[in-house]
Amino acid sequence: MANNMLTITDQRTGKTYEVPIEHGTINAMNLRQIKVNEDDFGIMSYDPGFKNTASCKSQITFIDGEKGILRYRGYPIQEVVENCNYLKTAYLVINGELPDGGEMDRWTWNITHHTMLHENVKKFIEGFRYDAHPMGILVSTVAALSTFYPDALNIKDPESRLLQTYRLIGKMPTIAAYAYRHNMGLPFVYPDNDLSYAGNFLNMLFKMTEPRYTPNPILEKALDVLFILHADHEQNCSATAMRTVGSSHPDPYVTTAAAAAGLYGPLHGGANEQVLRMLKEIGSKDKVPEYIKRVKAGDYLLMGFGHRVYKNYDPRARIIKEIADEVFEVTGRNPLLDIALELERIALEDEYFIKRKLYPNVDFYSGIIYQAMGFPVELYPVLFAIGRTSGWIAQWQELLLDAEQKISRPRQIYLGHDLRHFEASEKATEEPEKV
Ligand code: CMC
Repeated sequence: MANNMLTITDQRTGKTYEVPIEHGTINAMNLRQIKVNEDDFGIMSYDPGFKNTASCKSQITFIDGEKGILRYRGYPIQEVVENCNYLKTAYLVINGELPDGGEMDRWTWNITHHTMLHENVKKFIEGFRYDAHPMGILVSTVAALSTFYPDALNIKDPESRLLQTYRLIGKMPTIAAYAYRHNMGLPFVYPDNDLSYAGNFLNMLFKMTEPRYTPNPILEKALDVLFILHADHEQNCSATAMRTVGSSHPDPYVTTAAAAAGLYGPLHGGANEQVLRMLKEIGSKDKVPEYIKRVKAGDYLLMGFGHRVYKNYDPRARIIKEIADEVFEVTGRNPLLDIALELERIALEDEYFIKRKLYPNVDFYSGIIYQAMGFPVELYPVLFAIGRTSGWIAQWQELLLDAEQKISRPRQIYLGHDLRHFEASEKATEEPEKV
């Protein structure tokens, strides 16, 4: 008997089935042959939250959660950070290989020259309430781009996909910055093509009356590294939203809006915002043990801790901790860091967290840096979304080019009522005639 087969015995019928194992998985459709009789639908698998279900074959990002390993297209995240800026990382993540000099120049030029927004988009953003959450503005405005670029529906054309890629990566920071300026009641700042991707973003956020904005090179670099660390993370909630929505073939703007909506939640990219709120609520180092007690009692989640895949230290959190010191040299030390370090120290020694393998994730320290750099907490998930846009595009493109992919349409276990009929008292009666 071949040893790459799984033998399943159905105790209900005594029948035995051979199911092929490929890449450590079985194809769920192979379970359907397992039936009690001809009329039976066949066995399905049940997996809420996809805890043990591979939804695709992918070549983009590799994570070994037990060992705390993250690689983009095979390159360890630490090497990517040391050798690439964000735009080069985006090229790698989307195209699969590092660009040569000419490719990199063209890529950077094209993204840089797609950073401006149609003037009507500005008016659209002005329509939001002064205190609108910038993530709500981002999600809606990215979706609205769909109406400005109807050509984007041409998703089977590689040239059109490339143009939308330039537009999406180019315009995300502009939308994010406009959302911030709108919240602050400040005039919008147009992109400056002479600055880097991260430098221009800082320009659009923070430029005031000076004729030319000059970003601090350390903060510019730190922000660029944060974008790199957020570029992709395989089949997380927002990437899955991108693939699920993308599988019905709408344009990439509404698809990206769906992914960004998935990111917004506090269990995913919204966690960085919640970490800061949590640290502020704790208030001081001496209150940490009491807070941990309440987490263990189930009153709260320790935000920025735990991960579906990592059962070890998130390698991104490690890199963020390293760059934090450089940022604090410019901005001054964030006092919340002491509370965060104490939380981490106590949690990593505590049986509750050890048993469940809960470690700090990417969101635990990123917020502390963002705060030191002057970003308001509501903007943190937006910063995550800017970096993650390249990953969403890579996941979307891989889906579209994968002949095995179909429209996402899971099954359910129906546990509702069996057939029933309206009782006489429930039947619609004729409306009395109006006089
Ligand atoms: N604080 C306290 N307990 C936790 C936490 C936490 N942060 N995370 C998980 N647990 C407990 C959970 O209660 C459960 O305990 P029990 O076995 O007694 O019921 C156990 O650990 C397993 O947790 P789970 O909820 O089954 O794990 P999951 O894989 O479904 O959830 C998670 C993963 C990230 C949603 C979750 O760990 C969490 O809610 N963390 C806090 C929010 C957060 O930081 N999110 C950012 C994730 S990383 C970056 C990103 O995706 O954006």
